[in-house]
Amino acid sequence: MENLENIKAEMLASVAAVENMKGWDDIRVSLIGKKGKITEMMKSLGSLSAEEKIETGKKLNVLKNEIEQALEKKKNLLAEQELNVRLAQEKVDVTLPVRPETQGRIHPVSKIYEEIVAIFGEMGFEVAEGPDIEDQFHNFNALNMPANHPARQMQDTFYIPNKKSDDFDDSYVVRTHTSPVQIRAMESRPLPIRIIAPGRTYRSDYDATHTPMFHQVEGLVIDKNITMAHLKGCLYDFVKAFFELDDVPVRYRPSYFPFTEPSAEMDIGCLKSKNELKIGSGTDWLEILGCGMVHPNVLRAGGIDPDEYQGFAFGMGIDRLAMLKYGIPDLRTFFESDVRWLKHYGFTPLDFSSMTGGLNNNGGSAR
Ligand code: PHE
Repeated sequence: MENLENIKAEMLASVAAVENMKGWDDIRVSLIGKKGKITEMMKSLGSLSAEEKIETGKKLNVLKNEIEQALEKKKNLLAEQELNVRLAQEKVDVTLPVRPETQGRIHPVSKIYEEIVAIFGEMGFEVAEGPDIEDQFHNFNALNMPANHPARQMQDTFYIPNKKSDDFDDSYVVRTHTSPVQIRAMESRPLPIRIIAPGRTYRSDYDATHTPMFHQVEGLVIDKNITMAHLKGCLYDFVKAFFELDDVPVRYRPSYFPFTEPSAEMDIGCLKSKNELKIGSGTDWLEILGCGMVHPNVLRAGGIDPDEYQGFAFGMGIDRLAMLKYGIPDLRTFFESDVRWLKHYGFTPLDFSSMTGGLNNNGGSAR
């Protein structure tokens, strides 16, 4: 029989050289299988003398044991390697976000719009709309501003020629306020009326707090026995909800609008310091809206009998409210369509405004 040490070394080397489970099984069969080398060697013991049989038999048993151990070790090693390969291939990166972060942002004006609709919606107001390009009747005349009325000058604006008429009075106007929607509501809705009308408005103005296009929201309530007390209560509730405060000091200053009588401007209490404006306390006042009792002439123009019905109306600038609530200093930046600005001041699309769920839950980065 060949030198057993050499045989063993060869066998161990062949076991060590195995690279995968398939190769391992082939080697196992070729060494200790039914027709394997060691098995054959054991079979050949029969031809030896009794003494040699005992001695060589012992050695072969030892060899078989060693080879079996080496095979077992190798098997464990291969199994571990194969597991590692699988783990590397089937890896799941649990740090990946479940859902990609939303890229788009809601513009602060749209956000304020939603907040206002949520608040007045809760009070039972419906949203009404009117066209941006208005006729002079709805924008001026019906609102108690006949041709040549000086108040028209205050709202100096952009006129659009009427192709069917050369008469200036027939030309259209990009609406100077949302108040024409008051008339449109009176013309088209059954009484009582309770609407808000948010939308775009236009005036010939341009500086840090004025842009040629801006946004207003109009409010109109018409019913029997409506008084100034209803107006005050409604607006007081609105500012508290809007600024999310338990109390906001308010005051009404007498004012003039051709379409309301009496007319007032509403101020809210605040504290103005060098770099900050704090709403809700302090000794300063900030004007936020115009309002009043609907003028009898306006009710008449809308086909309503002022002896039977009364109403109140108010109008406020949405952009100004956005500047105030979210601390945005320059109105002009609202309309520059700069995505960096929008990323900073905008709101995530999944942040819905509601009175019960909160007006701005996850807020904009603006706060
Ligand atoms: N339309 C007025 C403006 O543009 C605001 C207003 C609306 C005032 C309704 C009174 C009543 O300034």
